[in-house]
Amino acid sequence: MNKKNSITVSAPGKLMLFGEHAVVYGHPCVVTAVDQRMQVTVETLETFEFILDAPDVKVLNYKKQLSDLGKGEIPKGAKFVEIAVKNFAKKHGLKFGLKIITKSEFSSQFGFGSSSASTVCVLKALSVLSGKNLSEKKLFDLAYKTVLDIQGKGSGFDVAAAIYGGTLYFLTGGKIMKPLKIKKLPLLVAYSGVKADTVTLMNQVSILSKKYPKIINHLYQNIEETVDLAKKAMLQYRWLTVGELMNVNQGYLEALGVSTQKLSDMIYAVRDAGGYGAKLSGAGGGDCIIAIAPKEKIAAVKKSIVKVGGEIIELTTNAEGVRVE
Ligand code: PMV
Repeated sequence: MNKKNSITVSAPGKLMLFGEHAVVYGHPCVVTAVDQRMQVTVETLETFEFILDAPDVKVLNYKKQLSDLGKGEIPKGAKFVEIAVKNFAKKHGLKFGLKIITKSEFSSQFGFGSSSASTVCVLKALSVLSGKNLSEKKLFDLAYKTVLDIQGKGSGFDVAAAIYGGTLYFLTGGKIMKPLKIKKLPLLVAYSGVKADTVTLMNQVSILSKKYPKIINHLYQNIEETVDLAKKAMLQYRWLTVGELMNVNQGYLEALGVSTQKLSDMIYAVRDAGGYGAKLSGAGGGDCIIAIAPKEKIAAVKKSIVKVGGEIIELTTNAEGVRVE
């Protein structure tokens, strides 16, 4: 390749609505894409180098040869992008070097899935630059492989949200990725101030389920029923039911041991101020809560969350999936 080419791609962050943890073990979840996006610019190089600037995660001018991708110590903030490029090159070949710059509209602390969104952006950019124009499903498979290579486990729900956008009914590994036609989702989101580590929490749940397999399998089954009822209620805009089911799902997550005092304080703050319901979103251990409240109670609910130390995050859901800018 003689000519320098450059492309900018963006993908949305995500919020898990219902079904976290159970979705790792063959049960469904519902996830929505949020309008805070990850943006990645990829420029082709004539040298066979890989250069990464990801200032949001403190990676600056990180360089290696394409042939060394995946080898040696990789800084945490560079892992997903580097392994994504390696996986693309292995599957489809790569005839040029790359300079990649990532930029996030949201803090990587929130748990909105900055790693999976940047993985998707990079793969989409390479797919276009190399003329392969991979289908959404092919992009999903490569991005999901990247997540599994790094984390060992995970459902792939975050990758699906980044690719397809909207609100999705999702089954482990992308066996089902069904868009749900929900025009509005009056969701309140608040950050706990604590950054959670997804892999640590998944491992914690896996230890518990090995100790009490029967109980935990029943629990996953109950979560699945909650997800299915919540999906139906959301499609019919029955927000009181959606809120109640958030409370039910939160109870199961509490039983899995992934909630925290801070998350509980915020969730009770919602309920005490007249909200319909609330739950943690994602792996637990910190990150965000989501809540549903009647219109006339929203201001009081927000105030009540802030009073216990939560930070309200203004965003809209159902955002568009990955796109070339
Ligand atoms: O913490 P997050 O937002 O990455 O969510 C993790 C959700 C899990 O179900 C625990 C893991 C997964 O990959 O589905």
